[in-house]
Parts: sequence; C-alpha cells; structure tokens
Amino acid sequence: MSMQDKLKHLEQRKAEARKGGGEKRIAKQHEKGKLTARERIELLLDKGSFNELDMFVTHRSSDFGLDKQKILGDGVVTGYGTVNGRLTYVFSQDFTVFGGSLSEAHAEKILKVMHLAMKNGAPIVGLNDSGGARIQEGVVSLGGYADIFLQNTLASGVIPQISAIMGPCAGGAVYSPAITDFIFMVDQTSYMFVTGPEVVKTVTHEEVTHEELGGAHTHASKSGVAHFACANELDCIQQIKTLLSFIPQNNVEDPPSIEPTDDPYRQDKELLEIVPDNPNKPYDVKQVIERVVDDGEFFEVHAEYAQNIVVGFARLDGKPVGVVANQPAVLAGCLDIDSSLKGARFIRFCDCFNIPLVTFEDVPGFLPGTTQEFGGIIKHGAKLLYAYCEATVPKITVILRKAYGGAYDVMSSKHVRGDMNFAWPSAEIAVMGPDGAVNIIFRRELAEADDPAAKKAELVAEYREKFANPYIAAARGYIDEVIDPRHTRPKLITALHMLENKRDTNPPKKHGNIPL
Ligand code: HXC
Repeated sequence: MSMQDKLKHLEQRKAEARKGGGEKRIAKQHEKGKLTARERIELLLDKGSFNELDMFVTHRSSDFGLDKQKILGDGVVTGYGTVNGRLTYVFSQDFTVFGGSLSEAHAEKILKVMHLAMKNGAPIVGLNDSGGARIQEGVVSLGGYADIFLQNTLASGVIPQISAIMGPCAGGAVYSPAITDFIFMVDQTSYMFVTGPEVVKTVTHEEVTHEELGGAHTHASKSGVAHFACANELDCIQQIKTLLSFIPQNNVEDPPSIEPTDDPYRQDKELLEIVPDNPNKPYDVKQVIERVVDDGEFFEVHAEYAQNIVVGFARLDGKPVGVVANQPAVLAGCLDIDSSLKGARFIRFCDCFNIPLVTFEDVPGFLPGTTQEFGGIIKHGAKLLYAYCEATVPKITVILRKAYGGAYDVMSSKHVRGDMNFAWPSAEIAVMGPDGAVNIIFRRELAEADDPAAKKAELVAEYREKFANPYIAAARGYIDEVIDPRHTRPKLITALHMLENKRDTNPPKKHGNIPL
C-alpha cells in the first residue's frame, strides 16, 4: 500500500470513529435536544485546538454478542485542547455508542486523560451522558468506575475538576461527578440519582418523575448536588468557560489576572444607602457585592441553593477573588445547615486553588430550631468554621451590619486568621442581639418593672448604644479599620495588593479531620 493509500485508510477509520453510533442514533440524540459528544467538545474548546486521543480504542468483550459490535472510540471522546488559550483536558461520553455506558476500555480512556491532566497541571472537564456501567461487562465495568473515583480523589485539590451532566447519570456513576469540584446540569435533559423513579416506587411507593427526582433544578435548589442549573447545553458550556476564567490551572499556580477595566479607586455613594438603618430590615447583599467588584461582574455559584449565604467569583483590580456573603434578604442571613455546607465547600475550593477570600458579613447568628439541631447544625456549622480556620489564602472581611455570637467568630474573624478585617460604621458586633441580650441579663429588672415594655425599650436602647457598634471590637484590634462604606472597593484592593505575597501554613499532617 502506498503512503497515499495508507493515509486514505487512516482518514476512513477516523471518519468511521467520528460517526459514533451512526446517523440514526445521532438524529435521536438531536431530537432529544442534546448535542453529540463531539459537538459539545467543539463548543467548549478553542476552534481547531482539540487533539483527540484513543480514537481507535474498542472494548475487549465477547459476551452477549459484543464481539460483533465494536465501535471505534467505545463511547467516549477524550483528549486535550485550549479554552481561551489555556490547556484543558476533556472527556465527553457518546450516548450514541452503547448509551455512553462505561466499559473497561472506556474507563481506561478517561483515566488516561485524568493522569495527563494531573501530570501536566491543567483542569479536566468531564461531559457526562451515560447509561452507567456497561451491563454486558459486569464487574469489569464496576472496576473501571472505582479506578476513576480513586483518580478523582487523588486529583482533588491538585487540578480543578469540572463535571457537566448532559444526559443520564445514575447509580454509582454519580460519585465521580460528586467528587469533582463543580457540577453543571442542563435543564430537562439531564438527571442524576442513585436509584431511579422505578426503584423509588417499588421501595417507598413514591411516584416521582426523573426531572423531579434528579433534574437540574432539583439538584441546584434542593440537594445542592449541582452548583449550576443551565437553560441548555450551550449555556452550560458557556458557563463552564466563565468558571475556568476565574481559576488557576492547578494548585501551585495563581489564579489568572486580567487587565483591569474598572477604576481601583472607584468610590460608590450608593453603598451608603443599601444597608437600612433599621437592623430588622432586609436588603440584597448582592447589590453590595456588585457595586464593589470589577465592572459589577459577579459569577454566582450555587445560586439557587441555601440562598441565605451567597458565594461566587469576581475580580478586584483584575484579580480573581472568592466572595462569601451572608444574605439578609433570606432567613435574615442566619447560618443554617445548608448554608454552612455551601460556604465551607466554596471556601475550601478557593483555598485549594490560591484564590483570596472576601467575606461580607451581616449575620444575626445560627438559625434556631429542632430541625436544625436534629439535623446536626453543630457538626455542619463546624464545617464552615473549620474551612475558614484552615484556609491560608488572603482573607479579608467587611462587617456591614450584624456580627453576632458564634457567627461573628466563624465568618473569617481576626481570631480565625482573618488578615484584614474591616467594619462599616453600621456594624454591630456582640454576643447577641439587643433584644435577646436584654431578656437574659435584665430578667429580674424587667419582671419587677412597673411598665416592663417601657423598661425593656430603655434597656434595649442602652445596650444598642453600648454594644451594637464596631468600636469595642476595634478597641481590641479585632477590627483593623472602621471604613466609610463608599471606600470599600479601594480598601479591599489595597489590602489585596498588600497581601499578595502572603505565606501561611498549617502544621504538617496527613490530613485534618473536618467534621463530616
Ligand atoms: C449497555 C446500554 C446501557 C448500559 C443503555 N445502553 N444503557 N448498553 N450498558 N448500561 C444502550 C441501549 O441498549 C441502547 O442500545 C442505547 O444504549 C440507548 O439506550 P435506550 O434505552 O434506547 O435509550 P433511552 O430510552 O434514552 O434510555 C436511556 C437509559 C436506559 C435511561 C439510560 O438506557 C437505561 O435505563 N439504561 C440502563 C441503565 C442502568 O441500569 N445502568 C446500570 C446502572 S448501575 P441500542 O443499541 O439500542 O442503541 C451503574 C452502576 C455504576 O451504572 C457503578 C459504579 C460503582
């Protein structure tokens, strides 16, 4: 065979591999509103940057007639390319080939790109669309999953791992995305569950649809399993790219700076108006965040889940930061189980990947009640505390209004290695709010008063005057500076520059024992 013929043969084989499960199955995929594995990769990576690996890999099974069904690539497209010029590894399951199910060979392909991503220090994006373990292969397929779970765990905190769920993801297969850093889901066309609606019906007699049980909004708002619920696949891929733009390639790199387009010294007088004078009035803390960060751009993570805390990425003077903020508009900004989990997970991601943390604080305390106590708010709240304590990235806090009780300690206080702790003059820092405090410390006086209501109002006013301000904390140095709200942006940027070369470490250990 001449070289020309050999090249022709190669091209034929490549064309065969690109066909996946064939025209009919591709059409079926499109009918469902889904793109193919390769179309997704094309959208994700910079044009022409994709280098496909293992295009000719096939499975090695012969049971159940599989020896007569070998499809080049074996149901997953893998390789590397660039996203906005930065190296990114990718695997994309091809539902048109055995339903994207995972065989031994399919798993080996995924593991190969995972190993490459680890060795070369670049993120990996997994586009999941699979019927799960290749049923015909049995335990070999289960072994393949376990090999991936292990690699996910070893890569955790070394390179960013991102999962997009773009079709089925059921049974034990959910645990690979679950170990990765971020899960994106697509509305109406993706689902994740450990056991599906049929099993649920048999076991618990509950009738529930796929979408209700494990769709994008269920996981984005109820379980918190998904960080992003996307309108469609295009939106999903765009959001993955946006996320990648904020994060470094690996744990020894700094996050990527961009040329700033917003004045670092910009002051904002609207910040004087957002927080109401009345401490019982809610407001939207996202307004504060958006007024402070570069160009008002805040990329929120977990937007639908535990909305009493807000987390996400933004830039200050071109440099990425992770923002954590209590949200007074929801549950008065109280910390509860879900918000503690959400905050802790985000803080730990930022700390793994050298992203400074900016905390905006307005928290009346932990949410009271049997649901919270029986649900383990003690151990879950401890996760948030642990995450802040453990984090060694630059940590800057701005107390906007309330900082009460244990929540004051938790939210990146000076005592848990907050580097720069600012307070607005509206800050109230004390063991508890004036009402509760007066009820306890003046119980006898109130009981003996001729007019208990008037006496209480007087004592509350006295307590507020004395404690509900930032100056007692500032007198101890727990607050580094009480700032004019208008100056929040320049103050944060100056502090971030000051902390640019911060070095801090934790004692050497195998790993800590975060309360789980
Ligand atoms: C082999 C599979 C498969 C699987 C689907 N297919 N799932 N082949 N192993 N797990 C094949 C089908 O035979 C079919 O082949 C093609 O993929 C498309 O499947 P359809 O059923 O036609 O598609 P659809 O109607 O969209 O339904 C999708 C589905 C369904 C809901 C995913 O296929 C399904 O229920 N599959 C089985 C899921 C499952 O029970 N997997 C094992 C779970 S346990 P043809 O040739 O007709 O196109 C598991 C454990 C992981 O995964 C453990 C890790 C520890």
